[in-house]
Amino acid sequence: MAPMSSFETIQTSVEGAVATITIDRPKALNALNSQVLEEVVAAAEGFDADENIGAIVLTGSEKAFAAGADIKEMQTKSYPGIRMERMFEDWERLAKLETPLITAVSGYALGGGCEVAMLGDILLASESAKFGQPEITLGIIPGMGGTQRLTRAVGKYKAMDLILTGRTMDAEEAERSGLVSRVLPVEGFQKEVAKVAQKVAGMSQVATAAATKMVDAAYETTLTQGVATERDTFWALFATEDQSEGMDAFVNKRKPEWKNS
Ligand code: CAA
Repeated sequence: MAPMSSFETIQTSVEGAVATITIDRPKALNALNSQVLEEVVAAAEGFDADENIGAIVLTGSEKAFAAGADIKEMQTKSYPGIRMERMFEDWERLAKLETPLITAVSGYALGGGCEVAMLGDILLASESAKFGQPEITLGIIPGMGGTQRLTRAVGKYKAMDLILTGRTMDAEEAERSGLVSRVLPVEGFQKEVAKVAQKVAGMSQVATAAATKMVDAAYETTLTQGVATERDTFWALFATEDQSEGMDAFVNKRKPEWKNS
């Protein structure tokens, strides 16, 4: 991973067991160019490999989480070119992190911004958040998973409405539609996000990794297969020190001290 200080389009910080990655291209409303992609993925994978980190927050500014893929960077690209560079493919690496990823959206999360927000395990929105997939207005379609993840989150008819009209929806509609985990007040938004992240980071990392893997599996498999794999994973957790520790702590009315093993 590139040294943290060499990042130009993001800022990173660590507070306890929570790492925060803040997209920082204010002049372009945090549009996601290839440098942002490279830096976000490098930072996230670096934190994922760090055993002291139990949750990663990916956020933007108050005005914009991200206003989409960088249209100015894409404008002159050709089909063979973007195929060869496998444009946007690396964003999927965020879906493979073992450490829970919390995406925290204030302001615009449009196009690729909405799609990256949907890569989070938990998606928190401030009351000012605006979500949309406006690619159709540019003569294209979503290209970082929007047609798939938005449809799974909000269902066919809401997804078609957003993707075919390019309109934006506010935080209240997004929560009602099942796109966001929680809506939080604009004031103190990042503090509330940090509280959620600290709570997740305070759990056994073995258990959070198993939980995210199994919830994600619900999108990939049949109910029968998913329930069977969940049961196997549940059984397997009884081979961990953290299962013994968690249950002993409950019975003896004390706080668990996770070993993450
Ligand atoms: N790419 C590149 N630059 C962008 C951008 C984007 N997606 N979004 C905003 N910017 C730039 C603007 O060009 C502008 O730069 P200049 O000052 O140099 O002109 C600056 O950010 C500020 O933007 P605005 O002046 O437009 O700000 P606004 O407050 O009037 O409007 C907005 C805000 C409604 C979000 C508007 O900027 C907008 O519509 N942005 C584009 C949204 C969009 O279409 N996103 C989808 C991109 S395609 C995609 O994401 C493909 C995919 O699926 C992966």
